[in-house]
Amino acid sequence: MALLIRGPRSGDGEALASLWRELWDAHERWGGYPGTQDDAAYQAVAQRLEDDIYWRQGASTSGRHLHLVAEDRGEVVGQVEGWMDRYGVLLSTLDTCEVRSLIVRHDARGTGAGQALLGELGRAAFEWSRRRGVVLAAEVLERNPASAFYDRVGYEALTWSLRVDLPVSVRLDSRFRARQAHPRDAFDLARLDGLLAERRRTMRDTRYDPPRSVDAAHVESIAAYLEQPSPGATDIVVIGERSRVCASATVSVSFLEAPFLPQRRATLSRFAFDPELDIDVLMAALVKGAGDRALALAAGTLELVDLSAPGTPLHRATSTIGGREWSRVFARVIRAAS
Ligand SMILES: CC(C)(COP(=O)(O)OP(=O)(O)OC[C@H]1O[C@@H](n2cnc3c(N)ncnc32)[C@H](O)[C@@H]1OP(=O)(O)O)[C@@H](O)C(=O)NCCC(=O)NCCS
Repeated sequence: MALLIRGPRSGDGEALASLWRELWDAHERWGGYPGTQDDAAYQAVAQRLEDDIYWRQGASTSGRHLHLVAEDRGEVVGQVEGWMDRYGVLLSTLDTCEVRSLIVRHDARGTGAGQALLGELGRAAFEWSRRRGVVLAAEVLERNPASAFYDRVGYEALTWSLRVDLPVSVRLDSRFRARQAHPRDAFDLARLDGLLAERRRTMRDTRYDPPRSVDAAHVESIAAYLEQPSPGATDIVVIGERSRVCASATVSVSFLEAPFLPQRRATLSRFAFDPELDIDVLMAALVKGAGDRALALAAGTLELVDLSAPGTPLHRATSTIGGREWSRVFARVIRAAS
């Protein structure tokens, strides 16, 4: 093997589109969202890739997008993409590189190409970030054997996801009901945000800011956000006795584009609960409220994401309402040498 890791070049489009097809077909076998079997759709992907390659002129980095290709003796045998993101506002919070579409052609596996692609992606992401470090995060479906690969190359399971079919059928406690958050909930949401940040720290999830105090500026920024929420994302709160806000989460619905078959993907994230109340009851109300919203936007399933490990109360509560194992995020932190 004479492996070269490089940015995509003119003429790679067709080989990369065929790798995508191999990846999408495999994902479908592992229970993921189905991809198309239409050859024309993959020809369009190849053309789109060629256009992108033309504009990036051989560079592996273009804006927030990193794209690397593995070449062996003149043939494209693998690829990986990275999407750079910043989930915190503090300068001390590390940037995140979402690892996507990693694939090595079936007949080229087991010879180090996957590890080499991830290694080079890590270097490119670190350079992009210009911070003290970067978190590389890859979502792996539970049924994908690649979990063992991530384990082997130094990644650790960070968060878990479960999935429920819509409409959800859960037993509700009549003292609690879910509704969309209003700007007047801003103070309660700031308080719940603090609990969410604490949970993330306990899970050693450094993609987000550490807990901060509830001050007027923080409450004001949440209220302003709730006046004009981002399209596709809805904050859901659970209201308990004496109109008290006692849990929150965010439901997001996006449209999956080709080569997926056209459909909606709904996720429920940013779970936060009043620790004095029964998490099972609050979870049932949240998932019912979020599920109704996702259903109204034509989603067929709801992924409950960024959960703590199996056996923890949060994970147990999602299993109790019928969540089935779906995926986990593996992560690796690269820090500057001090
Ligand atoms: C996952 C994948 C990219 C790995 O690529 P690869 O080139 O075969 O992996 P490497 O040869 O670099 O392997 C690196 C190490 O991981 C180990 N490894 C690779 N695949 C493994 C697997 N399925 N189970 C256990 N260990 C594995 C290798 O044995 C090697 O360990 P070693 O250093 O002790 O020899 C490849 O199997 C693939 O394309 N799978 C299908 C697509 C996919 O699942 N992508 C990930 C989506 S999240």
